[in-house]
Amino acid sequence: MVASVDNSILRLEGIHRSFDDIDVLRGIDWTIEPGERWVVLGPNGSGKTTLIRIASMWLHPSAGRVTVLGRRLGQTDVRTLRRLIGFAGAAMADMLRPDLSAADIVMTAANAALEPWWHTYDDTDRDRAIAALTRVGLSDMADRRFGTLSSGERQRVLLARALSDEPGLILLDEPTAALDLAGREQLVSALADLAGDPSVPPIVLVTHHVEEIPAGFTHVLFVHDGLAMAQGPLDEVLTGETLSACFDMSLSLQRRRGRWVAWAN
Ligand SMILES: Nc1ncnc2c1ncn2[C@@H]1O[C@H](COP(=O)(O)OP(=O)(O)O)[C@@H](O)[C@H]1O
Ligand SMILES: [Mg+2]
Repeated sequence: MVASVDNSILRLEGIHRSFDDIDVLRGIDWTIEPGERWVVLGPNGSGKTTLIRIASMWLHPSAGRVTVLGRRLGQTDVRTLRRLIGFAGAAMADMLRPDLSAADIVMTAANAALEPWWHTYDDTDRDRAIAALTRVGLSDMADRRFGTLSSGERQRVLLARALSDEPGLILLDEPTAALDLAGREQLVSALADLAGDPSVPPIVLVTHHVEEIPAGFTHVLFVHDGLAMAQGPLDEVLTGETLSACFDMSLSLQRRRGRWVAWAN
């Protein structure tokens, strides 16, 4: 008998999570395969951040199985699992010291830490940080203090940080929140470049806005009231009908030159 080989990057099975007896996630199944680029859409409070925290191994589910790159949560050291995942989010910018340089912030990814001083970094680490900053269009900002960057540049530094330590999966929780239009478009464009690069591992982008789905993204997961309401290839699953059902509002949707736009009917 030939054992079946699971090549999936992330596999969530029957994920439940409750806080104070409230069921926030109510049985989510979700598999990410190599090469996929996912967008996660859903209203405020639907459970997206809880799902991403579970996928990034920073939160345990109340029930269900989490497997990343063939390694099961609960059977593998959690720090080892976390090292496989690059994570960034809007909320993270406020957790970092503003006087650290952009390169320092990228280098902390190597230890899944937010502060550099417990570890020592060498020239190879710095070269890798600069390479990651270059990938997001910030090659000349390595020595700039994080606190002096625009919010869009800060989110791109965090994206570089998520990319830098050769992760097997990249999770981004609303990196575009609070960005101005130019900052948003620069981040979306950096994400489109990454999406088109086969050497970049699967990416998951949580957002509220279909306008922020970068070109080259392939799949969508709709989260509604703690359930995976719909999921699959963008071309099939992202429709005005599903969007309307997810956001409890009659919405129209159009695709223009690889990007999306939605409006209320
Ligand atoms: N640590 C927590 N303790 C209690 N309730 C929580 C906690 N984290 C999230 N929640 C609740 O879970 C629900 C879903 O939150 P969240 O996953 O942040 O949703 P989303 O990211 O889609 O806005 C919300 O009602 C939120 O208040
Ligand atoms: Mg959230």
